[in-house]
Amino acid sequence: MDNFALITGASSGIGKEFAEAFAKRGKNLILVARSKDKLEITARKLRESFGVAVEVISLDLSLEHIAKTLYDEVINRKLIVDTLVNNAGFATTGVLHTTDYQKQHEEIMLNVAATTELTYLFIKDMSERKNGTIINLGSCVSFTPFPYAAVYAATKAYILSFSESISYEYRNSGIRVLAICPAPTQTHFFDKSGNVTDNMRTPANVVKTALKALDRSKKAFKTDGALSKIQSFAHRFASRRTVLKIAGRISGKAWGPRDKAV
Ligand SMILES: NC(=O)c1ccc[n+]([C@@H]2O[C@H](COP(=O)([O-])OP(=O)(O)OC[C@H]3O[C@@H](n4cnc5c(N)ncnc54)[C@H](OP(=O)(O)O)[C@@H]3O)[C@@H](O)[C@H]2O)c1
Repeated sequence: MDNFALITGASSGIGKEFAEAFAKRGKNLILVARSKDKLEITARKLRESFGVAVEVISLDLSLEHIAKTLYDEVINRKLIVDTLVNNAGFATTGVLHTTDYQKQHEEIMLNVAATTELTYLFIKDMSERKNGTIINLGSCVSFTPFPYAAVYAATKAYILSFSESISYEYRNSGIRVLAICPAPTQTHFFDKSGNVTDNMRTPANVVKTALKALDRSKKAFKTDGALSKIQSFAHRFASRRTVLKIAGRISGKAWGPRDKAV
């Protein structure tokens, strides 16, 4: 049986770029997202261009325990996952109580619960084989709170903490865990929320940084882009209160209320 990289959120943006980068390296792929048509188009292109095997599994990863359904489907197809990229994610923006709670719940389920459960399920098999790589999508807001994207920033802080902790737990198990923490990147991510900056990274930048960090270091997290690097150091140079104020001013311009009071 051949080994596969399973990439969630592979229908667009950073996930699609990861798929192409792994295919270029000759890696077989399992592409996961809700948009089956988009996944099928990408799968066909990657099979033709790079001669790799590409499986498509279309699922809504914000549903309760859907990770187990995905894991069971991988086992049914007799595929071995030695690389897991927990990339699918999205952000809600706005003042907490004026933002639809159902969307915020889905955000927590996708960004946090699905990532945790998929990792839990696949890392056991990786640990038995003493071989595996897990890449989790953090963010520049993994390092600082971000008002008007409070739930999103909290989910990404979780991703960083979770990734660093398990990278230590599994350090002698042949398993590499990396949280890649990009600055704002040109994808469909900002389609609904609106942008916060004009200075954007590309998905290719993010994936190159992640793969370089995996190939050349043992780091548990890596920033991509100057803004993310600055945010990763912010608390060393300023108090938490000051960092919060600066973050609030930046995000407030894009996502805050028109008047100052909530
Ligand atoms: N863009 C940025 O500035 C930025 C910065 C830092 C971190 N990130 C992180 O990078 C990751 C990828 O985001 P992106 O920028 O590439 O955004 P994107 O272009 O919007 O891609 C998001 C991907 O997630 C999938 N997805 C969304 N909801 C899903 C669900 N319920 N079930 C399954 N798949 C779902 C989408 O596919 P379907 O719609 O087909 O399901 C899509 O493939 C996210 O975790 C994001 O938080 C992004």
